[in-house]
Amino acid sequence: MMSTNDSTFFYDYDILIIGSGAAGLTLALKTAAFAKVAVVSKGHLSQGATYYAQGGIAAVLDNEDSIDAHVADTLDAGSGLCHLDIVKHVVANSGECVRWLVEQGVPFTTIAPEDAKEYREKEPLQPDNLAPLHLTQEGGHSHRRIIHATDATGRAVFETLAYQAGMNSNIDLFENRVAIDLITRSKLGLAGHQCIGAYIFSPETGSVDVFKAKFVILATGGASKAYLFTTNPDGATGDGIAMAWRAGCRVANMEFNQFHPTCLYHPQAKSFLITEALRGEGAVLELPDGSRFMNKFDSRGELAPRDIVARAIDYEMKRLGCDCVYLNITHKSPGFIKEHFPTIYSRCLQYGIDITRDRIPVVPAAHYTCGGVMVDKHGRTDLPNLYAIGETSFTGLHGANRMASNSLLECFVLAFSASDDIKAKIQSTELPDAFPPWDESLVTRSSEEIIVSHNWDELRRFMWAYVGIVRRDERLQRAKRRIQLLEQETTEYYKHYIVSKDLLELRNLVLVASLIVESAILRKESRGLHYTLDYPGLADAAKDTILEPENSVLDS
Ligand code: FAD
Ligand code: SIN
Repeated sequence: MMSTNDSTFFYDYDILIIGSGAAGLTLALKTAAFAKVAVVSKGHLSQGATYYAQGGIAAVLDNEDSIDAHVADTLDAGSGLCHLDIVKHVVANSGECVRWLVEQGVPFTTIAPEDAKEYREKEPLQPDNLAPLHLTQEGGHSHRRIIHATDATGRAVFETLAYQAGMNSNIDLFENRVAIDLITRSKLGLAGHQCIGAYIFSPETGSVDVFKAKFVILATGGASKAYLFTTNPDGATGDGIAMAWRAGCRVANMEFNQFHPTCLYHPQAKSFLITEALRGEGAVLELPDGSRFMNKFDSRGELAPRDIVARAIDYEMKRLGCDCVYLNITHKSPGFIKEHFPTIYSRCLQYGIDITRDRIPVVPAAHYTCGGVMVDKHGRTDLPNLYAIGETSFTGLHGANRMASNSLLECFVLAFSASDDIKAKIQSTELPDAFPPWDESLVTRSSEEIIVSHNWDELRRFMWAYVGIVRRDERLQRAKRRIQLLEQETTEYYKHYIVSKDLLELRNLVLVASLIVESAILRKESRGLHYTLDYPGLADAAKDTILEPENSVLDS
């Protein structure tokens, strides 16, 4: 599996998965049945968005619910831009994914044993031989259809899948490894297009190693770190999107960055989400004076799709000049609140907010990247043998606005489909013999790391100010000019200095920010998450924004 020359390690796998979140780990477990798999992760295995997911996973499990209703809700939230075939594919496979997750051992919240018999008789769609799963409600869903593990669903999913992956002898897990770029046949001067591996940096040793693989999967999560305020962990810097773009793949709908309406507003709380399931269980949004406001904006009130709720909060905060609005669930009993939302209860208590008695101060924050690397329903990108799954991909499921809890579901379904596709091809796939090592002969060590941290900070601030919830052409042009400067500086820096994790992330984030701004400039209408004062109405036709790189693999 491994060989070395003086400074480079060469690893050889059937499948290289970059990312250890829900998408990456699911695919690893599926493909380990027929292949030797490497999973690399930028930090600790848990450091993706998956670990922090709260609300749950949308799935049709209630007898009163239906695939058609879930499809219709997804299309409605997506404002005319969802791809119907993908929506049907993902929703139709939700039951199979839930059964698989239950088999892996994910401890989903079940309904109380005393109610279980009656529920079982009424709900034949639930997995067999198990206590029935509790279903909660979130914005945009016309039924209760969210399975969850109290309010820490992502952690339960991650811990279960990571445990299973750790036990599987066909899976090797590599932590603290940063993928820099993909290796392709054309990069090696060989004929034909094929992804054949990746260069992976180890911050601990400083080496850049070669991972050869017949199939490479980008499961690197989203890019919400492009914004100053976000619910996402630090690693959400769009690395997979940037790598795919540099390798000649198209990206789509990058203007649709979702802002979650309710992130905790507290000076010491970094990026702590207050789940939408709180509103699903009856919490209401209030202005500082205690009045409710959501019904002015949408008949579904607090349970309108996220774009509408986030925009309403933004509007009210600007109108009143206040720093936050409030989420109030104090009308529910303390027992109910602590049982359903133990993580949020204890975290808020750390900041002196007792959610059984106090209102929770909240603000919107960047949460989810609806656009990404263009893929089909098997996760195949434009570049043969390169796949993208999970938040890094654009499948067409989410359209102009993702419906709550459809994202984890997409990770599982696409991992399943990608696995089927890879299985069908693996026997006939070959790799070239010779791979060159990473070339560091022209770079030196930098003594000016301040430039990287300053540029990172500047980027995130102007993205928040100019490319946020409400946009204008003039603001977008201003952001574009600033990004061009940062791109020049970062490229120069990358050419001359030895790589570091911060530099690699900045390089990716600047590129992804430029794709977001370019896409936003191209959309001359307000649709879903893209709201611009210059074009407040909907265009006649709903079209994806597709960007193609100069070195597109489709052109040759
Ligand atoms: P992630 O889980 O983000 O994992 C990305 C992985 O890629 C990480 O392991 C990271 O280290 C690795 N990586 C990134 N770049 C590199 C690189 N260059 N080299 C090596 N490794 C790299 N969705 C729902 O459906 N339901 C919810 O309840 C829900 N709640 C959420 C709550 C929060 C606070 C957040 C932030 C998101 C929530 N979402 C929810 C969204 C959902 O969690 C994510 O979209 C989903 O987990 C993404 O999974 P993923 O596998 O694509 O990526
Ligand atoms: C939440 O729990 O509110 C987040 C759900 C999601 O992002 O899908």
